[in-house]
Amino acid sequence: MAGSFTVMAQTEPIRIDLGQKGAVVSPNLYGIFFEEISHAGDGGLYAELVQNRGFEEHVLPSSMTYRDGRAWAVDAMNYEHRTNRNWNIPWNMDEKKMTGWKVSGENATVTGEVVEASTPLHPNTPHALQLNIKKVDTGGHAILTNTGYWGMGLKAGEQYDLRCYVKSANYKGSITARLTDGETGRTLGSVDFNGKPLKDWTELTATLTSNGTTGKGQLQLAFDKAGTVFIDYVSLFPQATFKGRKNGQRANVAQMLVDLHPKFMRWPGGCIVEGATYENRVKWKETLGDPMTRRGEWDVWGYRATWGMGYHEFLQFCEDLNMDAMFVNNAGMSCSVRNGDYVSSEADMEAVVQDFRDAIDYALADPTKNKWAKMRADAGHPKPFPLKYVEIGNENVGPEYVTHFNYIFKHLKAEYPQLTFINTLGHTDRLLSQIPGDYMVDPHWYRDPNFFFNNNHLFDDAPRTHDIYVGEYACNGGVGAGNLLAAISEAAFIMGMERNSDVVKMTSYAPLFENENRRDWPCNLIHINSSEVYGRASYYVQQMSAENRPTYNVFVSEPSTAGDAQPFASGTIGLGSYATQCEYRNVKVTTADGKTIICQPQQFQKQRGEWSVSGDVLAQTSNEQLTLSLLPSFNSNDYTLELQARKTAGMEGFFIYYGMDEHGRNGYAVNIAGWNNRTSAIQPIRRGRTNDVLGSQVPQSVETNRWYDVKVVVSPELVTLFIDGKQILSAKPASQTRHFCQTGYDETTGELVIKVVNGTEQPYRRSFSIEGAQTVIPTGRIITLSGNANDENTFEQPTKLAPQTTLFGKFDKQFTYVFAPMSYTIMRVKVAHRQGNG
Ligand code: AHR
Repeated sequence: MAGSFTVMAQTEPIRIDLGQKGAVVSPNLYGIFFEEISHAGDGGLYAELVQNRGFEEHVLPSSMTYRDGRAWAVDAMNYEHRTNRNWNIPWNMDEKKMTGWKVSGENATVTGEVVEASTPLHPNTPHALQLNIKKVDTGGHAILTNTGYWGMGLKAGEQYDLRCYVKSANYKGSITARLTDGETGRTLGSVDFNGKPLKDWTELTATLTSNGTTGKGQLQLAFDKAGTVFIDYVSLFPQATFKGRKNGQRANVAQMLVDLHPKFMRWPGGCIVEGATYENRVKWKETLGDPMTRRGEWDVWGYRATWGMGYHEFLQFCEDLNMDAMFVNNAGMSCSVRNGDYVSSEADMEAVVQDFRDAIDYALADPTKNKWAKMRADAGHPKPFPLKYVEIGNENVGPEYVTHFNYIFKHLKAEYPQLTFINTLGHTDRLLSQIPGDYMVDPHWYRDPNFFFNNNHLFDDAPRTHDIYVGEYACNGGVGAGNLLAAISEAAFIMGMERNSDVVKMTSYAPLFENENRRDWPCNLIHINSSEVYGRASYYVQQMSAENRPTYNVFVSEPSTAGDAQPFASGTIGLGSYATQCEYRNVKVTTADGKTIICQPQQFQKQRGEWSVSGDVLAQTSNEQLTLSLLPSFNSNDYTLELQARKTAGMEGFFIYYGMDEHGRNGYAVNIAGWNNRTSAIQPIRRGRTNDVLGSQVPQSVETNRWYDVKVVVSPELVTLFIDGKQILSAKPASQTRHFCQTGYDETTGELVIKVVNGTEQPYRRSFSIEGAQTVIPTGRIITLSGNANDENTFEQPTKLAPQTTLFGKFDKQFTYVFAPMSYTIMRVKVAHRQGNG
């Protein structure tokens, strides 16, 4: 491959100085974040094979009501938007009820329906399946089949524990449990339950051994006589779970996490911690105890979570992987992009704090002194669990959150000084000045590759007032399901975090898993099906980074700033918004030669959204994302645009476009009061969409029903935004280098660790000069992840993109190396050196 490209060369060597010590790299820099999304737990890490085991899948989210085929949230004020959002979602009750189940007859007539049992198996889980077996011919069977999570992974010779409950007043036949291959119909193992009295709920348990291997396994319960039978809580677990834990995790999936060497695990979310409504939040207390008694809850990602992998299992998993636990709990407010209802009374807030206390005590307290700790001991773990971090909310924002955080944090920090608490605001949020105390902050980024390449330096000038936990980040825009380009751009970003590890103390990629049959988020680190699992290229970037974390950074010169900066392109202007209704008037352009063009509202041509003209006002009235009206036949990159803008309703502020092509597909937007009316920034528009940001986002909100004077000064090299005469921000066109180098010293092995990103599609030849080393051992390891930018791993080729390790014999105080196109490379160079000057 290399032969067909021109090798990009830089004459200046990259200078590394072992004598100039940089930041100590946080030992906790690399961790993981688990959320029940895309069936990451149920049908993913959690080893349960039966889907909808308790027949509760159709149950409405807590506190929501059913009307006209939709589930409606409680009528309440949204904490951020200060309006009632009337939040609702489609709800197909009947379709949901039989999720995972089929009823059929082999020479038998049978129907089945999910009903509310008159005497439920457990009050938390009131529903059961009622099987009405009308007739069974001799040798025939009425069959209830569970198809698992898109098939069950069964392995020849492995044993599976079945547990289910049956009740019948009149059924006198036998019940056979079978493992079958859903593709061939072959029975792979079976067990008969004969003569059990079934008058009351009766627990049936058995161990089945599979005599075949399939990813499309099924569990069947077969009945050989007529009668009415109620069935509930049907559970099937492989015995070979991770570390053999009962109610445990899938061994091959858990092993993928072991191989990432995570130092901590964040759990349980994510948006689901907030909930679509406050009552829909994750309630950790309901995730404890016998899984049969766990009610589960509808998960904001669109399916019901069983919470079989609950708080106890999470803590146990952390202990098993020798990592610290980070527990995230609701801060008294639901997700503001959903219903956003919240509590605020003293009594309610006290209950919120108590819920945190109980969770902390469950993990850490003395079982002889605390009832929650006693529950932990009763569940088999008298010793404390490794809980170290507690996050107060998830992605909560704004003044209401500040009030909640201050209240909760004040109590908890005083009572549990040994714990680190995490605030959900980003590291530059102005509201941090209203929150005294020692806590970490948690910014999140889901963006395209340009963002990650452009932001290797993001933390260089970050305030050092709070330690930063980058709790969620991923390159997920325009990169398929997560190709190599995405991974390489993340490597560039990670190198910036590692360099700034004096302040960036922890990071976790997100989301962690997807079941291949259910993608709720564009890119996910690890893909799972019923029996296999593989890591995307991003997984290997995480692994390489964690395995090669140096003890401290050492000085390295910038590899290259000779970027490919393009001036802002000429194009036309446009007006628009994002999920916001707004009005524009008095639009005027002054060209570089001083000419004034008055733009009448009628001249703008609608591209997206609902636009109308009334007098001198151009109004956008839809709630569409990224609306746009373009001024045709204007083409420049050197002018001043002035207008007045007013928001009439909606979530954000204004979009003022410049440099746009005639179809409104490519160009730039000044996004004023975007990100839920919180910040402004310049954003490139590519193929009609925004993703990354040029320069920085600055805090900014706009009021409804107020006219603002907006001025945008556009030149080929700079764009500047003024609002009401005040300069708000300016940005240059992206000058993007795709070459990055980061260096550190690993005290445990005595190696210089050189990390290089080549994000171009050409080989990259660089010479290095190592200073401060007494000796450099010529032979050392080079670990490389490379390939084609658009390549992705798949179940067919799970390691098409995976790091390769080679031995290099030419390390020296001066050496040269050619880095593969589109690569992340780590060199481990044995050196003897004088200690740095710190
Ligand atoms: O990781 C997916 C989601 O992204 C998380 O639930 C949330 O915290 C963020 O918005």
